Amino acid sequence: MSKKSKTVYVCNECGFESAKWNGICPSCGQGNTMFEQTVDEGIVKGKKTNNINKQRAVPVCMSDIDIMDETRYHTGLCELDRVFGGGIVKGSLVLIGGSPGIGKSTLLLQICDYLGEKLRILYISGEESKRQIKMRAERLKTNSENLLIMTETDVELIAEEILSSKPDLVIIDSIQTMNHTELNSLPGSIAQVKECTNIFLKLSKMLEIPILLVGHVNKDGAIAGPKVLEHIVDVVLYFEGDSQTSYRILRAVKNRHGSTNEIGVFQMDNIGLKEVENPSLMLLADRPHGVSGTCVGCVMEGTRPILTEIQGLATATGFGNPRRMAIGFDYNRLSLILAVLEKRAGYFFSNMDTYINVVGGIKLDEPAADLAIAVSLISSLKDVPINEDALVFGEIGLAGEIRTVPNAELRVIEASRLGFKTCIVPKYNLKGLGDLSKYKIKIIGVNSIRQAFEALT
Ligand code: TYD
Ligand code: MG
Repeated sequence: MSKKSKTVYVCNECGFESAKWNGICPSCGQGNTMFEQTVDEGIVKGKKTNNINKQRAVPVCMSDIDIMDETRYHTGLCELDRVFGGGIVKGSLVLIGGSPGIGKSTLLLQICDYLGEKLRILYISGEESKRQIKMRAERLKTNSENLLIMTETDVELIAEEILSSKPDLVIIDSIQTMNHTELNSLPGSIAQVKECTNIFLKLSKMLEIPILLVGHVNKDGAIAGPKVLEHIVDVVLYFEGDSQTSYRILRAVKNRHGSTNEIGVFQMDNIGLKEVENPSLMLLADRPHGVSGTCVGCVMEGTRPILTEIQGLATATGFGNPRRMAIGFDYNRLSLILAVLEKRAGYFFSNMDTYINVVGGIKLDEPAADLAIAVSLISSLKDVPINEDALVFGEIGLAGEIRTVPNAELRVIEASRLGFKTCIVPKYNLKGLGDLSKYKIKIIGVNSIRQAFEALT
């Protein structure tokens, strides 16, 4: 070990660094995750990577900064632009995460065709050979003259190439394969990923080019250790959906240039990812008819209302404690709703196994979905199908009351646009909706769960 090296113990899960080894990481509490790493002092102090950027930063007056400088590149996919907040911002560092096979490489290669009309793109792959990329590009019909492919994992060589060829956009597939030779740890370890990301951050800010990094997720669904990369980059996008079904949802988890609530919906087919412009139609397509335990709710995803089918099932418990399970909905919130149903509305689930499934892989984290969850469970409990042309939204309070929700007007308009005939809304939202005759849909205001269920059967 050279004089200028030091040994640190780094947690592979959260990136916590310590001078001594701990069996349990003091930061994230996981066991046996701390590994010894020898780090060159130069790198620890940022000297090695700083030689990329030797210019001294000059302070400027706030009033002299021109925000018109924020140039955005459109990707040719409206759904993707929406998640970015209107296109990729010049000079931003973007992390696109998701499980293997979800379509990260496909999406990025696909947008190269449109972006390549105006920009020179450098696509660096540490995972696939040039031939493999070419075969995929042929399938996706990406055929841009401006797209350069490089297969390399040494981050210093990549930095040299970027500095000399000065492309307009860089894609790194993936950050876990990148390797800084000065570090002793393996590619994909926290120290490597952090160091390489820092180098790309410097490059993107210095040359004012967007750099898109692909990141794989670890077993808990976090990108290379939860918060390690997220605070370095400007934008974190996350691909959801399972690789078995063809639908993919791209969600902004962090966005310094736009809202984090927006989602983009795609469908994977044999020529890549296709945009789904009307997700509600897609989510409602396979709805069963004439059966109990299904109900349509409405959630806001950013600025867009999305209608989704919620299925509830209540069956008598065979033995032991009743089971509760929720897919796409918070387990604790389900327990809360069941407690309210029992205590305040007189529907008894204490000897029932209860299941909730939100169809299409959408995750409901908005309280406005409460009423639809409750209605689907009551419908299953009573085995009474509810009105198929009806939509329900409202938050349930602990006193059993139905509380107002934001954006009621947008939700009602979307329901009416998709051909629903009745909309059950919280009573106190009626005032905000104004003249009800303008909506071309029957609107019923309710202030209790029982009232909502009775209006639907
Ligand atoms: P890929 O983009 O390689 O995933 P990631 O980079 O996130 O690991 O996606 C690979 C999957 O997508 C693979 O299962 C095949 C499928 N696919 C299609 O269905 N159609 C296509 O046109 C392409 C290119 C891939
Ligand atoms: Mg890939």
